[in-house]
Formats: sequence, structure tokens, C-alpha cells
Amino acid sequence: MSQNTPASEVLTQLLKQRYSCRQFLPKTVEHSTIEAILADAQLSPSNCNTQPWQVHVVSGDTLKKLSQTMLQKAKQQAYSMDFTASVEDYFGVFKQRHHDMASRYYQAQGIERDDTQARQAEIARNFTFFDAPHAVFMFMPIFGDGIRSAVDLGIYTQSFLLSLTARGLAGVPQGILSFFADDVREILGVSDEFKLAHGISFGYADESAPVNSRFMGRVPVSESVTFHE
Ligand SMILES: Cc1cc2nc3c(=O)[nH]c(=O)nc-3n(C[C@H](O)[C@H](O)[C@H](O)COP(=O)(O)O)c2cc1C
Repeated sequence: MSQNTPASEVLTQLLKQRYSCRQFLPKTVEHSTIEAILADAQLSPSNCNTQPWQVHVVSGDTLKKLSQTMLQKAKQQAYSMDFTASVEDYFGVFKQRHHDMASRYYQAQGIERDDTQARQAEIARNFTFFDAPHAVFMFMPIFGDGIRSAVDLGIYTQSFLLSLTARGLAGVPQGILSFFADDVREILGVSDEFKLAHGISFGYADESAPVNSRFMGRVPVSESVTFHE
């Protein structure tokens, strides 16, 4: 894009380029770049400007330790979640969209629908951060029922992801990284007052991996939006 490209076009391109990357190269991201991305995300709006995001950036040995712990805890099904996260809660069209997402995902990986072992191994790749060299863990304080901070964290997450994209990097938000919140809090030394919403693995995308073939679409705007006059 040239320097004269209108901001609206730049933004649309960034939104189109962003996707959930699930295979990363081993190359680490410069610390100054990570700091610039965090500075971008910090500009996110929030309820009453409370800026409730408490973000832990993890790399190196600590990331390895988290990975080992999560893999082990997943095997034992020793979950400690701060929030409910059951796909059984989806209903109607939302349930259909989840099924569609799962079938596109496993198709991209060449995994058969009834191959439970391969599907479980694919899920476990979340806990090796899809080989990413870095991950961020997003904690938040709870005000009332927690929805306000959760919305703010969602907005922060998209700012973070778009900043990654703008710098030629990629990421994947992962709710599943919050399934072992007590262990993550212990390893990172986080107070119990902060609850774990999700994590984001990030780094350089392995563009040759079939899982990075950008297989997800969206329903038409008309299925999500109603105009009133
Ligand atoms: C809050 C949140 C949690 C997510 N959790 C996971 C996850 O645990 N594992 C995963 O592989 N993808 C996860 N995703 C990625 C979604 O599956 C993905 O955003 C969706 O299918 C649309 O695809 P796209 O991001 O490539 O456009 C999550 C996305 C969001 C926003």
C-alpha cells in the first residue's frame, strides 16, 4: 500500500489480513516490537477508562514451563477455570457456526471427522502455543458480573491482533489457555483477584502450513445487523 492509501482502506486491509494463525516459525519477535504492539493495544477504549487489562507477556523457559504444565493438566483433565466455557452452551445458528468452524478447521488439517485421537492431538497443540515463541495472558479484575471488563479485554485483544498484523506478525486468541487459570496464576505470580479470560500466542506465521490457509468466512452483515429509522 502506498503512503497515500486512505486510512479506511488500510484498516479494511488489516482487518481482512488478520486471521487466527495456528502454526508459527521458531523466530522470536524483537522486544522493542513487542513493546510497540503493547503501546498500540494500550490505546484501546474501556468502560470509564478503567483499562482493566492485566497482561502478562511470556517467552522462553517460562513459556515452556506453562506448556508442560498445561499438557500434563489437560491429560489429567485437572481444569481450574475462572469462567464457564462449554461449547454445549451454543444453540441454534451459533451452534451451527461452531460446527462449521470445527469442520473447516479439521478439513484444513486433513483430519477425519471421526478421528478422535487426531482431533485431541490438534486441540493439545493449543498448549504448545502452536510453536509460537511468545504468548500473552489476559487477566482482568471482576466488577459486578464481570461483563464490563470482559468487553474491554475483547477490544484490547483486537487492537493487539491488528497491531501484530500491521507489523507482519500473526497471533491466535485462545480461550482454552484459560482452562488452567490457577496454574497460570501460580507460575506467573498473579494475584487471585485477577481472573484469566484468554491468551494469545503470537510470532511469525508459517505461511506454508495448511492450517494457516485462512479457511474461516463470515455470515453476511445482514444476518448480524438490523437498521432502524
Ligand atoms: C476470545 C477468543 C477465544 C478463542 N479461542 C480459541 C482457542 O482456544 N483455540 C483456537 O484454536 N482458536 C481460538 N479462537 C479463534 C477462533 O476460532 C477464530 O477467531 C474464529 O474461528 C474466526 O477465524 P479467524 O480468526 O481466522 O478469522 C478464539 C477466538 C477468540 C476471539
